[in-house]
Amino acid sequence: MDETVELTRKTAHRTSWADCYDVPGPDLFDKVHAFAQYVDWVHEKDHCFFRWPLSSPNSTRVVISHPTRGEPREMIMLGSNSYLGLTNDPRVIKASIEATKTYGYGAGSVPLYSGTCELHIQLEKRLAEWYRCEDAIIFPTGYAANVGTISALLRKEDVAVNDLFNHASIYDGCKLSGAAMHTFAHRSMRRLESVLRNVTGPEHGTLVITDGVFSMEGDLAPLDDILTIARRHNARVMLDDSHALGVIGPTGRGTAELYGVEGQIDLTVGTLSKCLGGIGGVVAGTHDAIEYLRFYARSFFFSGAVPPPVIAGALAALDILETEPHHLASLWKNIRYVTGKLRELGFDLGHTASAIIPIIIGEEMKLKELLRELLAAGVFMNFVAFPAVPRRRARLRMSMMSGHTQADLDYVIETLSRLGKKYGVIS
Ligand SMILES: Cc1ncc(COP(=O)(O)O)c(C=O)c1O
Repeated sequence: MDETVELTRKTAHRTSWADCYDVPGPDLFDKVHAFAQYVDWVHEKDHCFFRWPLSSPNSTRVVISHPTRGEPREMIMLGSNSYLGLTNDPRVIKASIEATKTYGYGAGSVPLYSGTCELHIQLEKRLAEWYRCEDAIIFPTGYAANVGTISALLRKEDVAVNDLFNHASIYDGCKLSGAAMHTFAHRSMRRLESVLRNVTGPEHGTLVITDGVFSMEGDLAPLDDILTIARRHNARVMLDDSHALGVIGPTGRGTAELYGVEGQIDLTVGTLSKCLGGIGGVVAGTHDAIEYLRFYARSFFFSGAVPPPVIAGALAALDILETEPHHLASLWKNIRYVTGKLRELGFDLGHTASAIIPIIIGEEMKLKELLRELLAAGVFMNFVAFPAVPRRRARLRMSMMSGHTQADLDYVIETLSRLGKKYGVIS
């Protein structure tokens, strides 16, 4: 590369986080310096959207501080994945405290050695039943569940077929496995069929992988069609239902329940970190497949077990999900109310059909300015831009909870309406 061009690329003023990765030069830290410059500029513009520390439980209203100025204040939280508020349910907290007293605060080992306690076994059974499967395994996180499962199952000669918008951990698992990776256009069954027609063969295995609820779009995979097409081509199906657990389907069992295909998915991945309010990943499937993962999924085998207090909390959260359907009903009442009002105002919410509501703003800079004002008005939402979504589809990501009050939601809608007009997002 010409020296001046290289110098310009190195010192160019970067206005997006995405631009700081591809910095040329022999020093690995060139990108670090580029990012540090970008961070200074972010602070100057007060476009600080990450790592606001909480000094209260993460609930519908929180006490939270600006990441550099401090200034704790009360805000309406629309950026939590604890969709039913179970993180703070007194019964979940009590179960967790009791388990701390019995087992201590950590597991003390990896699960295959001495890190498995009776509670882990109970939760595996409960989650296997939840997904109408024979068995389940608990990973340290949902991320580890995807990476460990995919890399344990696929070899270099195998093929992974992904919906383009699948979660990063699925792509990371595919890369780690060394298998050939193909993608199909988001939710396009025509493209899935044509990819499978070209890649399946007798000498290797094929795994079709899809999110149930897509984490940046909030829309759903057409799971019944995916299953039919995959079966036609002798491919296995893996579903990442992380954002669907407790939210999708008549009783919140997830995307398979909604489409009437429970028990038919080869491997279902879930997380304890969203609706169940804790931390940990789960994979459900046949007993043989799960037992295989216990020995070959390296992110399980070589990593500490989820602490017993978290497992106890997840068990209590499942009890609540199974016996108190009104939380799910309130969540959907809130989702319908907000999406109805925002669409009436003219906002583009994509095809959301879950508790994740994307509000498409457009250019990243417009999103940054709008979000700065939204935060100043006391409403907390998440910032999503390239490379998580296409460049001109930068967005607010709003996560609904069952406990949001109508008064808070009306205030949020009013504020979005005012800022949407100011920034030309709606007319
Ligand atoms: C679709 C999806 N899969 C997996 C994960 C990872 O879950 P965890 O937070 O348990 O690592 C996430 C979390 O963001 C997700 O959105």
